[in-house]
Amino acid sequence: MDVIAFREAWRALRGTSLPLEPDSWLLHIPNGHPLQQDISAETLCRWIQQEIQESETLFVLRTRSLVAEWLPEKPACAYQELLEIQQDNIRGCVWKTMADPIAIQQQLLGNSQLETIAMAHQAVLQSPHLPLKLQELRIPKPWGYEGWYTGVEQRGVTSFIDEQGSTELPYALNLFPESLLAHQEPPLILLKTLNPVPEIILGDLYLELHQEKWEVYIVTAIDETAWPDGVGQVRAGLHPELLKTYQQQHGDDWWSAYRKDFSRAIQNYETLRRKLDERLDQERSQRGYGLNQALSPEEMQELLSTIPEHLQQEETKLRLAAEAYVGSCPVRVGDVVSFPTWQMHSLQHGVRVIEFQTPHYERMIVMFGQKVLTQDHWNTEEALAGMKPEVYQPPQPELIWQQDGVRCERVVDFPDFDAFRLFVPVGQRIKLEGKGNYQLLIGVEGYGQLLVGGESCGTVRHEEGWMIPAVTDDCWLESRGTGDLICLQAIPKSS
Ligand SMILES: [Fe+2]
Repeated sequence: MDVIAFREAWRALRGTSLPLEPDSWLLHIPNGHPLQQDISAETLCRWIQQEIQESETLFVLRTRSLVAEWLPEKPACAYQELLEIQQDNIRGCVWKTMADPIAIQQQLLGNSQLETIAMAHQAVLQSPHLPLKLQELRIPKPWGYEGWYTGVEQRGVTSFIDEQGSTELPYALNLFPESLLAHQEPPLILLKTLNPVPEIILGDLYLELHQEKWEVYIVTAIDETAWPDGVGQVRAGLHPELLKTYQQQHGDDWWSAYRKDFSRAIQNYETLRRKLDERLDQERSQRGYGLNQALSPEEMQELLSTIPEHLQQEETKLRLAAEAYVGSCPVRVGDVVSFPTWQMHSLQHGVRVIEFQTPHYERMIVMFGQKVLTQDHWNTEEALAGMKPEVYQPPQPELIWQQDGVRCERVVDFPDFDAFRLFVPVGQRIKLEGKGNYQLLIGVEGYGQLLVGGESCGTVRHEEGWMIPAVTDDCWLESRGTGDLICLQAIPKSS
């Protein structure tokens, strides 16, 4: 349908609208109507804005559907969309239940407030140009938990949240996609926190690498029971001293010798690991736990205590022998570590980080100090064959600009996106610019106020995340806490 055809259809449609107040109407677009599915809300709003008077408000209700790409069967999921259209403003909300147009009319009668409907459906009230707050979704892990902000997977779907309610990302992003995403397609850059428990082994993540996925961690907290001096560790790359020894002994062939011995050390550990995991599986059965059920760190600790002392010692010996081939990188709060593809890495216990990554789900497990629940084997040989044979060097943040103490540093320059670390001294402000792309924002330290067009539209505190639409203009972040504000910003690259 084009604008000419719309004008034809409009006359008939307008006659079917349900009256609310003297200057407002509710229009229900019936199923099967050409305006139901194929025309974006933004286009529909633009066309309708040309047809209404300055004083009028038109509510438009339609039933739409999207394909749930994150589920294995990829079902089509129906949802409803309510738009509030005035000549100079549009807003909207979406929800997954089906409401009757008469029921919506009843709810709107007497107040004609979109807020009432959003509240009734516990849906986020969206304006195309206003930032949306990300609601953290906690996914339990054997080593602690992940806090998801933008993840959309079978394991969990994250949501936006406001005073009215919460709306899952795929539905909310489908309401005003041109304004929110411009030319980008969902999914969004993956933003999450990794929160390993402070216990050694239990809180150590897989030693892994990725073929496609680029990752960056920004340290937000170091558990002092695990690291009393406040300096934690991330394991990554080869061990520098051992690498030198191999170079001295094997010259140019050092990597094949290093790799062979590293592989043998992992195999020795894996043989014992399997034996221990079998014993632990028997214990699991006796306690009524599922074999692949994720247990809380406390339950795991209790389970591990059933391993006899001599086997525990053997486990430590073989694990340390294999880990001796892996380097480690000291980290403090605010530090950045990033991993290009084929770079071996493992976040360690008690080191909490914010992570940005490209939204691919793939990994190769080099080794792990616990049973792997998501796959039945490690990928050691394949991983070693492709890995970067080098000592890990953390990236040096690149100063982009600074003025009056306000500083913007690029911490990641990945193929799909950039990430920046922003420092804003108390009382100062920084303009948030996506240059035509959406932005993700998350607080690390301090307290900030988000302002769009001079109006407050939310706060940014420690681990509070936001999505700023691609069209948002004149967006500022003002530092209003007692200490300096540090936050992170990720912006996709224009493709
Ligand atoms: Fe990783």
